[in-house]
Amino acid sequence: MQSRTAARVTSFGDTDGVALVDEEMRAPRGTEVAVRITHASLGSTDVLARRGGYVFQPLPGFVTGYDFVGVLETESAVSAVLGMRAGDRVAGVLPRMGAHATSIVIPATLLAPVPDALDSAVAATAPLDLITAWHALQLAAVDAGGSILVQGVTGPVGSYAAQLAQRDGLTVFGSASTRSRAAAEALGVTFVDYTDPLWAARVKNASGGGVDAAIDHTGSQEVLGALAPHGTWVHTAFVGRPGHERADSLLGSLSSAAHRWGVQRQRVCSVPGLVLTRRDDYRRGLTTLLGMLAAGELTPLAVDAIPFDRVWDAHRAAERAERGRKVVVTMPE
Ligand SMILES: NC(=O)c1ccc[n+]([C@@H]2O[C@H](COP(=O)([O-])OP(=O)(O)OC[C@H]3O[C@@H](n4cnc5c(N)ncnc54)[C@H](OP(=O)(O)O)[C@@H]3O)[C@@H](O)[C@H]2O)c1
Repeated sequence: MQSRTAARVTSFGDTDGVALVDEEMRAPRGTEVAVRITHASLGSTDVLARRGGYVFQPLPGFVTGYDFVGVLETESAVSAVLGMRAGDRVAGVLPRMGAHATSIVIPATLLAPVPDALDSAVAATAPLDLITAWHALQLAAVDAGGSILVQGVTGPVGSYAAQLAQRDGLTVFGSASTRSRAAAEALGVTFVDYTDPLWAARVKNASGGGVDAAIDHTGSQEVLGALAPHGTWVHTAFVGRPGHERADSLLGSLSSAAHRWGVQRQRVCSVPGLVLTRRDDYRRGLTTLLGMLAAGELTPLAVDAIPFDRVWDAHRAAERAERGRKVVVTMPE
């Protein structure tokens, strides 16, 4: 047995409910491997889960964190086939939370190599948000020359979605509030002010009858007003009423599933679902995306590095995250 330290949410609510716990970690079995985590992002999903409002909410006692960068400590037959050796830098997204720990034991199929040219802290800002943006665009399935609305374009997921969509030859309309206007325009998108009551109609007009798809984290029915009659509405999240976030998210997901085959189709983008059910696609996607970051083809978020022994500060920083920045927890050497 190896020991590790993990950030466990012992009760829902504010940061006082987070505890750093020293515990035993079981040895890898079969094709599993052990990874010593060096960096892990902490974002809006971790804050939501800490408060108890996440759609895939674990029970109290869970470890936060969906993605990580680390060093492969043990090998298995699968890690060898995938070309990864002990000592290599690796990154991954977990199908359920648990990355805020100094070590983890996981299937080797969750791992992608981190290119030499990519700094570990920068790489750690990316896996979950990049895969979310990439998968949402897959579900949107808009051909080059088409148009897309990216809601929350200055957030981590939105900024990657805008960059990837533009690389695919799409015209991008990106929503944010006026305080984020400069950041949105720096991405090269057409800025949409979501506080303008007429924003959806303006997008419909400017896109010549409606966008071909929308990537949206609000669930607001207003999105339908911006969408073309044949358009696809991809949900990455649903904003719920305070105190009812989880129930409202579940209702939103069910309603979207019912509209999967509608004329204006709706799709739910779930990265945990992707990682669980399409493991090879996920791993190839993450490998490609990390390569694009290393090659400078995508602009990463700026890093707000906070040591693991100040994980409470990391939660507070994520709650007030500035546009274009991502909180990354750094593990002790
Ligand atoms: N489906 C998945 O597997 C998955 C994975 C990861 C994340 N997510 C979800 O993806 C969403 C985006 O996450 P994130 O961390 O990138 O960003 P975020 O911090 O949740 O959102 C920030 C962005 O949303 C904008 N925004 C706020 N209110 C808005 C509204 N009413 N309409 C349109 N835009 C609005 C903000 O603009 P201003 O700052 O100007 O207000 C900013 O651009 C989150 O809901 C997260 O939970 C889903």
